[in-house]
Amino acid sequence: MSDTFYLTTPLYYVNGVPHVGHTYTSVIADAIARYKRMCGLQVCSLTGTDEHGLKIERAARQQGLSPRKFTNTYAATFRQVWKKLGLSFDEFIRTTEKRHGDAVAEMFERIKENNFIYLGEYSGNYCVNCEAYTPQGVTDCPDCGRPTEFMTEESYFFKLSAFEEKLLNFYDSNPDFIIPATRMNEIVSFVKGGLKDLSISRTSFSWGIPIPGDEKHIFYVWFDALTGYLAGIGFASQSENFEQYWPADVQLIGKDILRFHAVYWPAFLIAAGLEPPRHILVNGWWTVEGEKMSKSRGNTITTDELIKLVPPDYVKYFLLREIPIGADGNFSYTLLLKRVNSDLANDLGNLSNRILTMIESYCKGHIPGFGEPETRDEELKQFSSETIDLFRKNFDSLQINKAIENVWELISMVNKYIVANEPWAMGADPAKEDRLGTVLYYSAETLRIIAILMAPIIPTGTASILKQLGVSKPLEDHRIPQLAWGELEMGSPIGKIQAIYPRLDQDELLSRVEEARQQKESPPPAAQETDVTSQKEEIGIEDFAKVEMRVGKIVSAERVPKSDKLLKVQVDIGSEVRQVVAGIGQEYAPEELPGRLVAVVTNLKPVKLMGVESNGMLVAAANQGKPVLVAFNEPVRLGARLQ
Ligand code: MSP
Repeated sequence: MSDTFYLTTPLYYVNGVPHVGHTYTSVIADAIARYKRMCGLQVCSLTGTDEHGLKIERAARQQGLSPRKFTNTYAATFRQVWKKLGLSFDEFIRTTEKRHGDAVAEMFERIKENNFIYLGEYSGNYCVNCEAYTPQGVTDCPDCGRPTEFMTEESYFFKLSAFEEKLLNFYDSNPDFIIPATRMNEIVSFVKGGLKDLSISRTSFSWGIPIPGDEKHIFYVWFDALTGYLAGIGFASQSENFEQYWPADVQLIGKDILRFHAVYWPAFLIAAGLEPPRHILVNGWWTVEGEKMSKSRGNTITTDELIKLVPPDYVKYFLLREIPIGADGNFSYTLLLKRVNSDLANDLGNLSNRILTMIESYCKGHIPGFGEPETRDEELKQFSSETIDLFRKNFDSLQINKAIENVWELISMVNKYIVANEPWAMGADPAKEDRLGTVLYYSAETLRIIAILMAPIIPTGTASILKQLGVSKPLEDHRIPQLAWGELEMGSPIGKIQAIYPRLDQDELLSRVEEARQQKESPPPAAQETDVTSQKEEIGIEDFAKVEMRVGKIVSAERVPKSDKLLKVQVDIGSEVRQVVAGIGQEYAPEELPGRLVAVVTNLKPVKLMGVESNGMLVAAANQGKPVLVAFNEPVRLGARLQ
């Protein structure tokens, strides 16, 4: 077995701040990465941000920012939030980095070389929000329900249709490719239903990576983003590192992006002569108080809010313990509080405090020696080593909540052991010193094992337990597969006793939640986001001078077929007549436009909108979201430049 382990989270879209859903996937990834490191593997855990495409471009413009500035700010937010949560990622890839662009170009070249790419034309309804075409005849997006836009464009295609059999064979020989297995059936029947070639380039927007040699084409965001998993470990930049880690051992995703990862992704990889990942781990979705999270409902729990209100270990424990990976979960602060007060404060926190305080009082603060073990002691020891095995078995099969349950059974066992042995009743009796030492040693040693097993999940509190037990080896240097009974050193001093998991007070937490909500509600949503993205971008006069705006006169205008928004307008700008496609069809009738003086941006790259070429833009003000054309009241020369 190879001694490296590569795991990835999805690359998060940067059109909003991270929330509890993103946090969940990242927290699972962190726990797995820590566990694998503690199994002695050389781990690379990757996360990052997906920053290209129309959706991001539009979100940036809506906030009055350039896409670059916008994505810089949000990418930084993601990075900071994961740091605040104490997540231990090794790599962070941004799809706007050069190493990523190079990797995308390299993937394209390889696939093209293998004859799986050709140039064609694509028409269809496109959902900007999901960055995906909808099936034929479907006008509202089946994923998010939003209305789609009809588009026609020249496009590079990936011959996905050539991969039906290859994929089915691949699934057949890798039955645990998708975890949980129930999700596999969904994918197999999708592929059996027939695969159509996939359009992998767009000419309708510019915020993205251009196709090498045909730069008006921009890579489709999914082709672009998926390649981030390769770019992050050195594909096309550091081949040695890449060879060491690819194929990925586990790629974590939410159920909504399964098809991209279980169908398109392995097909792209096979087409490029690369191996597909070993496993795709699919997590369910979190609702909030039973409702889907959404900006319009205003019920999104951002990660920032969460970690301001609850310490990181509590968040991690709740998310990982509450539901099995794959199931949907319901988030509420009340449920979180119940869970962590019962498990972390009552069970683990009290256990640790109880054992350490007794060692302090009865053994002068030193780990006691032990005498001849009795059956009960042997049973506890036996139960501890069985727990290690079960924990590993469950964690290895990515059933983290079950692995946690195993540890809690051990916690309950050691609690019962202490109650049954009543060490407090022996404390004053010198004849019972030996027995007291044994009971406290066995309890403390079990606590050490509990702390090491739980370290991948709740690293802060468990590090503190080990320190309090006087164990000087850093947490991450412990090896779970070698974890064995009896390593706690007799006679060594314990550390300073500290409470590790204080109870959360319900009234206090709920009133802080309320406060946080009110703060969130007071500024309008758009302004709230400027909070994170700082100020509007300021540009210098030289940037403004780059935009060439001229006076033009509309010669004729007509509707673009099948669109209620778009008008095809011919504008005379003095030196020539330009064709411009303008999104003003709901506010202006084509017949009222000829003869009208307008301002035209004349130095934009030509684009095609619904298959119609547009060579410029009419300048308009957004009045409650509706365009109002800029007009001139004084006589003015056609072609005069606006300044
Ligand atoms: N950018 C794409 C992924 C590209 S990977 C090459 C994307 N980004 S996302 O930000 O929209 O979603 C990232 C992850 O967050 C997805 O796995 C998605 O399932 C997850 N979640 C978003 N909302 C969620 C919940 N409410 N609950 C759990 N996870 C959810 O998709």
